Amino acid sequence: MNNLQLHKAPYLSAELSFLEALAEGFTPGEESPFSLAVMQAIGSDVKAYYESRIDLSKPITLRNGEVVPKIGQKEFWLVENDDTFIGQISLRVSELPDHLLEMGGHIGYSIRPAVRGKGYATKMLGLLLQKIDKQEYPNILITCNEGNIASAKVIEKNGGILQDIIDTEYSPKHKMCRYHVKL
Ligand SMILES: CC(C)(COP(=O)(O)OP(=O)(O)OC[C@H]1O[C@@H](n2cnc3c(N)ncnc32)[C@H](O)[C@@H]1OP(=O)(O)O)[C@@H](O)C(=O)NCCC(=O)NCCS
Repeated sequence: MNNLQLHKAPYLSAELSFLEALAEGFTPGEESPFSLAVMQAIGSDVKAYYESRIDLSKPITLRNGEVVPKIGQKEFWLVENDDTFIGQISLRVSELPDHLLEMGGHIGYSIRPAVRGKGYATKMLGLLLQKIDKQEYPNILITCNEGNIASAKVIEKNGGILQDIIDTEYSPKHKMCRYHVKL
């Protein structure tokens, strides 16, 4: 692990490496790998793809079918040696609506498949938590599926305390573990 930095996404020097990560099956969340057509569309203009991800004018459809407004988030890439894309982490920047209080929380992250299990997610979450203004966010909520052992460890190693494990209509397949991190 060398020279790791969080940069606002997308970071030009790591774009090529980001496209390689997509081809490996990386996605910014827990969704299935993108199809070739979607990867080509993203690759044709990575900046436009990131602009569309934070475009608040488009609502989103939740897993229970509810259509809700998007809320603002800041997205960062973890980049090694200034050119190698490692993963992505997002911070939601407004008050959390009900669905995110049950599933999603303030922070979401993903590491490219080829480098999982090497400590990168633990480091990436730590770097983001250092950036967050304690006055604005004294308590951070992070959720993960019950059974996502790696994610639970990442949160716990960064000071996360398990608050509860809930059933939620927003995640029909898994119970949701809700952690608080006090900054
Ligand atoms: C969850 C995820 C971010 C973890 O990233 P990572 O870089 O592999 O995590 P780390 O290397 O920092 O590992 C953290 C801990 O989990 C353990 N771990 C990693 N992968 C594991 C796995 N598949 N099964 C069990 N434990 C695992 C590590 O050994 C480490 O524990 P240790 O410190 O006791 O050895 C990554 O697997 C991922 O991107 N998954 C898909 C998206 C996702 O689930 N995001 C989280 C949404 S809440």
